Amino acid sequence: MRQNFVAGNWKMNLTLPEAQALTIELMELLKADLTAARPQVVVCPSFPLLMAVGQLLGDSGNPALGAQNFHQKESGAYTGEVSAKQLQSVGCEYVILGHSERRQQFHEDDTLLAEKLKTALTAGLKPIFCVGETLETREADETFDYIGQQLAAGLFHLSKEEFGGLVIAYEPIWAIGTGRTASSEQAQEVHAFIRAQVAAAYDAATAADTTILYGGSCNAQNARELFSQPDVDGGLIGGASLKSRDFVEIVKSF
Ligand code: 13P
Repeated sequence: MRQNFVAGNWKMNLTLPEAQALTIELMELLKADLTAARPQVVVCPSFPLLMAVGQLLGDSGNPALGAQNFHQKESGAYTGEVSAKQLQSVGCEYVILGHSERRQQFHEDDTLLAEKLKTALTAGLKPIFCVGETLETREADETFDYIGQQLAAGLFHLSKEEFGGLVIAYEPIWAIGTGRTASSEQAQEVHAFIRAQVAAAYDAATAADTTILYGGSCNAQNARELFSQPDVDGGLIGGASLKSRDFVEIVKSF
């Protein structure tokens, strides 16, 4: 279902007391700003914080709980790893997949991501699947080829039914944590391209129904301009999701 959507990726930040304090602040601010048109909000803490944050979020489904990673196998002898089913059992509804930090630092390639995607869907998790180009790729004018390839290799092996629950996030690597945001025109043209690729791989109705987020130095100042673009349905927020007021300002930027 296509919807306005804001997810906070807390990355490897916050201790348990800090995460609890942030969640309580968020809930208070969101309650104060309760409107019928509130977007779907998701927060994605690190593994040890999931249960405590989930308990504070409650079971309304908005805000929802998401995880940042999991292992591709369903269960077994994988010391130190976490399964999709375990995440689902502690209240996770969403999971981030294909984030550039995992592709680059943990060598997650398209084959592994395709396997993880199937495991997530089998466990009943909704993937937030990230794509995005490096600065080098953009400067070589190869952004569309590159993202087309990431989508084809990572995502389009899914059946139309499987693809239905999925959220896509466009995160240009050069914009992540750099303070250098894509312009709203740059974001819009890539989002429109992604939607066209989904239409080509499935059909126009599936494309029109797909939620596509922008991520990369999105903040309370630039969110409104980015979210006003016709193919930008919201954001995947890193740094600014760690500050309750900034995050709620972004949630209100539709
Ligand atoms: P920043 O918002 O800190 O640039 O991070 C974006 C991101 O990687 C979200 O997944």
